[in-house]
This record gives sequence, C-alpha cells and structure tokens, in this order.
Amino acid sequence: MKLSAGKYDIMIENGVLARAGEYALEALGKPRRAVIVSDDNVFPLYGGTLTKSLADAGFDMAPEFVFPHGEASKTMTTLEQLLNHIADCRLTRTDVIFALGGGVVGDLTGFAAAVYLRGIKYVQCPTSVIAATDSSVGGKTAVDLASGKNQAGAFHEPCLVLCDTGAIRTLSPLYFSDGMAEVIKYGFISDRPLLDLLTDKNAADCMDDVIAMCVRDKIDVVSRDLYDNGIRQCLNLGHTIGHAVEALSDYGIPHGHAVAIGMAAITRAAVNRGMCTPETLDVLLALLAKYDLPSDMPEGYTPEKLFDVTLHDKKMRGGTITLVVPVQLGKSDLIEYPAEELLSIIEDGLR
Ligand SMILES: NC(=O)c1ccc[n+]([C@@H]2O[C@H](COP(=O)([O-])OP(=O)(O)OC[C@H]3O[C@@H](n4cnc5c(N)ncnc54)[C@H](O)[C@@H]3O)[C@@H](O)[C@H]2O)c1
Ligand SMILES: [Zn+2]
Repeated sequence: MKLSAGKYDIMIENGVLARAGEYALEALGKPRRAVIVSDDNVFPLYGGTLTKSLADAGFDMAPEFVFPHGEASKTMTTLEQLLNHIADCRLTRTDVIFALGGGVVGDLTGFAAAVYLRGIKYVQCPTSVIAATDSSVGGKTAVDLASGKNQAGAFHEPCLVLCDTGAIRTLSPLYFSDGMAEVIKYGFISDRPLLDLLTDKNAADCMDDVIAMCVRDKIDVVSRDLYDNGIRQCLNLGHTIGHAVEALSDYGIPHGHAVAIGMAAITRAAVNRGMCTPETLDVLLALLAKYDLPSDMPEGYTPEKLFDVTLHDKKMRGGTITLVVPVQLGKSDLIEYPAEELLSIIEDGLR
C-alpha cells in the first residue's frame, strides 16, 4: 500500500524491507552512500535484509551504527556518537541515513539527519507499532535532556517511509499493547471505521489496514498543522492526564499504558459532564481491555497529585489548557479551559 504525505511516500507492506533498495532508488534518483542506524534488538532481526536489499540496488553501504535499545539511549551522547560515525563514514549532503527500528531509533536518526551538514536525507523504516503509526510520519525528531523528554529536536521530514508490517510480529506483547493505545487514540479522535475494525477483528491479524488507517489520520492532521500550533493538538487525546500518570509513576508505567488511563479518565469526565455519549466510554473500556491495556487510575494517584504534576507541564499556556475531549464515538473536540478547572475535570474522570 502506498500513501503520500505530500513530499514523501509511505510504503506499508509485509516484507517491504527486502524491497527497500528498489523504493529507495525511486525516492533518491540514484544509489548513494548509506548508513543504517538501529538498536541492538532490531538490527540482528532485520539489519541483514535491509543491508542486502540496498547493496543489491547499488547503494554504497558504510558500516551500520547500532546502539543499546531503549529510551535511555535517546540522548545527546548517542547523538554525538552517531554524528561522529556518519562523519567518519564520509557521508556528504547527497547521501542518506536509514532509521531501522522503533520510535527511539527514528527520533534520534531524524535529529542527526536534521543537523548533520545542516540537513541530509533520511529514510524511516519503522518496526514498532508506535513508530509505524505515529513517530515515523510528521517530521518531529528529538532527543531527551535531563530536563525532560524530547526537549531538544527539530522538524525534519524523511524522504521515504518503508513500513514492514511483518516486523511487528517480533515486537514484545508489552510494546505491542503500548502502541495499540495510540492506535485506539486515533479511532476516538476522528476514525469510527478504525474503531469498528479494532472491535470486530484482532488488530494483529490486519496490521496493514490498521497502520494505513492511522497513518492517513496522522497525515491528515499534520498536513494542516506542520509546526504543531493548532489542530495537531488533537493527537494529545489522553495525554494530559496520561503524562501526569507517567510522571507520578516515575516513568515506571509505559507511555501508551499511561495514555490508556488518561483516555479513560477524560472520556469518563466528558460522560459525567453530559458532553459525551455513554456508549463512547463503553466502547473505549472494551477496546482497552481487549488489547491488554489498563483503564483504572492506580491507587494513590489522587486528582490533586495529578493536577499538581500537570501544572508543570509544557502544554499549559497562559493560564488556559486545551483538552481533547471525546464527544461521541469517533469524534473528539479541542476545548480550552481555565487551567484551574482541570482539577474538577480530573475529579469527574475518576468518580
Ligand atoms: N516523533 C514523533 O512524532 C513521536 C511520536 C510518538 C512517539 N515518539 C517517540 O517514540 C519513542 C517510543 O517508541 P517505541 O515504543 O517504538 O520505542 P522503542 O524504539 O524503544 O521500541 C520499543 C522496544 O521494542 C524493540 N523493538 C522495536 N521494533 C521491534 C521489532 N520489530 N521486533 C522486536 N523488538 C522491537 C526496541 O528495541 C525497544 O526495545 C519515544 O521515545 C517517543 O518519544 C515520537
Ligand atoms: Zn503518545
């Protein structure tokens, strides 16, 4: 399946990594010198296939850069090592880097591509649900700083996205569920057919369709708001309360799991305030359970604590807060509230 995000194509296909050379040639015009960036879980599984396909198509393959998996590697230190590696490989402005892995690999590689020689091309090869449905599209790249996640970054779009849906099969159940929270999120923002598909079938059995629907939704939002000042905020459904849950857990609760709890809370608040149909909450809770995600707030996470943590969040602008509120099945609205009202909204979400 081929989707277009304006300047670049997104190929969603089982086995697409074995055809990467062909697609990369099309996108880049001729073979280039190339470096594959990956982590130590993903490279052993798929690095060989990608390397062979690119080499067969005539790409001049420099040594790969493989770093230890996990968020802890998404730092300035790894970025510097990566930049030095591609400099040592003598990549020029017309060469290309391939990001093979989950969101960590994609964010780090994208940032390196944005700043190396003031910007070179890169190809996203997402292998996790999060990377396939979210982080590989939209051009946001980043590393974490001591002050917080994604605090240094750039907007830099890939020149091609190659999403091998077969790769999702080796993802651990924990990360599969974690990504499914963001998939379910797209459904509740604006995609009723996606909700029906997730309900009627098992997402793992129709990953091509699920990913394509999410990517279409993301392209649609991002194309209207490339630099994240307006409508792109709707992608934050469940994230305001979710971020507070993540922070209170000292990041022990994975992001998607926290977002699941956040979506349940905001939807319950909307129902209790008469803003949303009760059916919407029923469908959400059923889907979260089906995909092994939590919906209950952990013991001791009181509205006051959640509110306090959120007050320090970067999304609080000028005394007001914009929340994404589900109003009916497959439809959410952006609503601006005085910041103080968040406390009673969280209370309504937990009762
Ligand atoms: N740029 C954006 O717009 C955007 C959007 C959402 C999330 N993100 C970022 O994405 C990151 C989270 O993404 P993630 O969940 O993919 O994290 P991740 O890259 O850490 O991948 C999760 C784990 O799964 C492993 N893995 C990945 N693909 C695999 C496969 N096919 N088989 C076996 N193991 C595999 C990885 O090695 C890792 O251990 C966060 O850093 C987040 O900030 C960015
Ligand atoms: Zn998220």
